[in-house]
Amino acid sequence: MDNFPLKIKSNYFLAPMAGYTDKPFRKLCREFGCGLTFSELISVNAIYYKNKKTLKLIERDITDKPYCIQLFGSDERLFLYAAQFVEPFCDCIDINAGCPAPKVIRAKAGSYLLKEPKKLISITQTLRKHLKKPLSIKMRIGYEKINPVELYKELERSGIDFITIHGRLKSQYFKGEVDYNHIGQINSVLSIPVVANGGIDSFKKAQQVKRITGCEYLMIGQAAIGKPFIFEDLNKKVDTNRDLGFVKAVMKRHLQYMIDFWGDTAIRQFRKFFHAYLKGYPNIKRFNNMINNCSTNNEALNIIDRIEVNQLTPKEQACK
Ligand SMILES: Cc1cc2nc3c(=O)[nH]c(=O)nc-3n(C[C@H](O)[C@H](O)[C@H](O)COP(=O)(O)O)c2cc1C
Repeated sequence: MDNFPLKIKSNYFLAPMAGYTDKPFRKLCREFGCGLTFSELISVNAIYYKNKKTLKLIERDITDKPYCIQLFGSDERLFLYAAQFVEPFCDCIDINAGCPAPKVIRAKAGSYLLKEPKKLISITQTLRKHLKKPLSIKMRIGYEKINPVELYKELERSGIDFITIHGRLKSQYFKGEVDYNHIGQINSVLSIPVVANGGIDSFKKAQQVKRITGCEYLMIGQAAIGKPFIFEDLNKKVDTNRDLGFVKAVMKRHLQYMIDFWGDTAIRQFRKFFHAYLKGYPNIKRFNNMINNCSTNNEALNIIDRIEVNQLTPKEQACK
């Protein structure tokens, strides 16, 4: 971890995920040993207008360090304004060049920047010139076709400190085959650290991705939703099956963090996590229905207490 521009205790990072990676979830993943966290993508325009909800989304827990704030936009001046505004509240600024959401693409931001590499490079150069903290980019391997190697070299020359590559095209959204070979090719030509991302859901898979890409640093997205303890597994170099008692305790801790942060509305945002925590367990339909129909945080805490399923893990069930 010597060549990484931030002091990190683990080389497994939590991916930025809109609607998921808020302060409570980042704090939880950190407690399980995640090495670096990112805010969800934050609009540079919203920062300019000091949108209250946006400002809440960049809040971090004191234990959540180092922490990157990820920005998206297309106007260079607004980008610079937003980056300078958020710089005191984080340890690194990350440029989003990967988001495929239609709303973001229409605004010529996110992965659209891969179609306008000159603009992306210019934004990068400007930010680098004016920011003191590390600067990174998270990008896809291409919009519709694979990026030329020269683009990555230009980005490196523009002064970014590390780069995260999600090994899918914009057109693949979040599913489908991940091109680890391309990530490996880029890792072999750049001097800055390359973080490999896409499809890493176990220690076994992480080993495989490290082998193919040669990357020391890995980023985990969807696999951490409902399984924040994946970071503990990765750090301990094991793949575990946690028992239901453990999972329920994590669910309650997570919901409590959300209540502390979001107040009465926590339950609304927690439901999706609830479903993810129980995914794969048998006979959980009635608990999913209960959480969907409950309206207060206290009810939700009670529902977690009442969860009872066959104590076998999803994997053991499958073997039966
Ligand atoms: C619900 C969801 C929201 C996401 N939001 C963001 C985001 O705000 N910024 C970003 O760069 N990527 C975002 N991503 C992409 C992830 O950071 C990650 O690159 C992608 O999910 C691939 O990693 P995985 O296969 O480990 O999930 C999002 C993905 C998901 C599933």
